[in-house]
Amino acid sequence: MGVVGIIGGSGLTQLKNLEIQQRRIIRTPFGEPSGPLSFGRLNGFDVVFLARHGYGHTIPPHRVNYRANIWALHHVGVSHVMAVAAVGGITAPMQSGVLLVPDQLIDYTHGRPSTFFEGGESQVIHIDYSEPYCPLVRQRLLLAAQQLGIVIQDGGTYAVTPGPRLETAAEIRRIERDGGDVVGMTGSPEAPLAREIGLCYAPLALVVNPAAGKAAEPITMAAIDAVMHEGMGRVREVLARAVTLLQDCGPCDCGTAVGPEALHALHQAAHIAKQRQPV
Ligand code: HPA
Repeated sequence: MGVVGIIGGSGLTQLKNLEIQQRRIIRTPFGEPSGPLSFGRLNGFDVVFLARHGYGHTIPPHRVNYRANIWALHHVGVSHVMAVAAVGGITAPMQSGVLLVPDQLIDYTHGRPSTFFEGGESQVIHIDYSEPYCPLVRQRLLLAAQQLGIVIQDGGTYAVTPGPRLETAAEIRRIERDGGDVVGMTGSPEAPLAREIGLCYAPLALVVNPAAGKAAEPITMAAIDAVMHEGMGRVREVLARAVTLLQDCGPCDCGTAVGPEALHALHQAAHIAKQRQPV
């Protein structure tokens, strides 16, 4: 395997337990990532960390350059990604403070650049996305929590909304009818891009509030912050243990989803994107 990458979301703009050795700005054919990549050691293993919203948490979900973030991680040799997300809880088990590893995704976003294959490549590429997350990374996250005695939910459908506003109660009712268990704003196109480029990727989500209409009180940032502060401590512990558990991961289907045709198309996509960039 290559190096483990961690994408931090709201409440996790840095990893306190990561011994940072260097920070590097990576330019990609798709522009600049949310910030420099932090290279360091966690539990004695190499790790690359990236704050999805920037280190000062200044980039809103709809402005994140997901393509540059995923491209940059892949470019520096990351093979397995754990992506942290703060989410709202919809179904009964998804109470505030619950930690979960989702197993499915529904994408309600629109207007976000969501593929490396913009067209113009010599072949049209359709990746298999029936199972959006890497089974190996999911399993290591669950095992890490289990070994630490941290309660974690195995599975759940992550509904991704455009943001930055929160949802209406009717939107949440609709998402629930669709089968959504939790709601967040960043799970897509991050996950499909990881699959397009052959990265093993899985989310680690923390429920930080009841979704719109699920509690009597309005959703406040103060209430979210309180849950986030406590919960991210558990997230850090799980991540650190999972880094160790990931070290024995062999190649899996996520890598082979990118067959030779897709690899060729990726090179072409990069070339096309570079030509489109302003000089
Ligand atoms: N909705 C969307 N995204 C979120 C929420 C929510 O309720 N909580 C945290 N991220």
